Amino acid sequence: MSNRTFTMIKPDATQKGYTGAILDQIIKAGFAVKAMKWTRLTKEQAGLFYEVHKERPFYGELVDFMSSGTIVAAILEKDNAVADFRTLIGATNPAQAAEGTIRKLFAASVGENAVHGSDSDENAAIEGDFFFSKLERF
Ligand code: CMP
Repeated sequence: MSNRTFTMIKPDATQKGYTGAILDQIIKAGFAVKAMKWTRLTKEQAGLFYEVHKERPFYGELVDFMSSGTIVAAILEKDNAVADFRTLIGATNPAQAAEGTIRKLFAASVGENAVHGSDSDENAAIEGDFFFSKLERF
């Protein structure tokens, strides 16, 4: 099992000024930052990142939203990183997220849900590679 996962703080959360509070929760939960950047995706880049969802009805909305503002992308390290991070952020839909989770605290809707977390070790590696070169990770 890999001990790394990948996250993005999404445009809704950066725009509302939640970046620092979300990073604080992540670090207090025991994740170490191994790579990080503040950036903005073009529509084409957002479309590529979420290509796995291409056939879903919300794909266009997702791509528009994820390219609508700045994001913070990061590779995080911890034992059992993928599963523990998904527990920390809570359900995709904040209305169903457990109390105290990042999405319960900071997300507005299933589309604008504050953070992304990889769903498997394989996708964590693919998603980290999408954003970071070998020189940008430690
Ligand atoms: P994320 O974990 O980044 O992975 C895929 C994203 O698609 C998900 O978070 C949601 O933000 C988004 N998503 C999932 N379901 C819907 C939906 N029904 N409507 C809009 N966006 C959705």
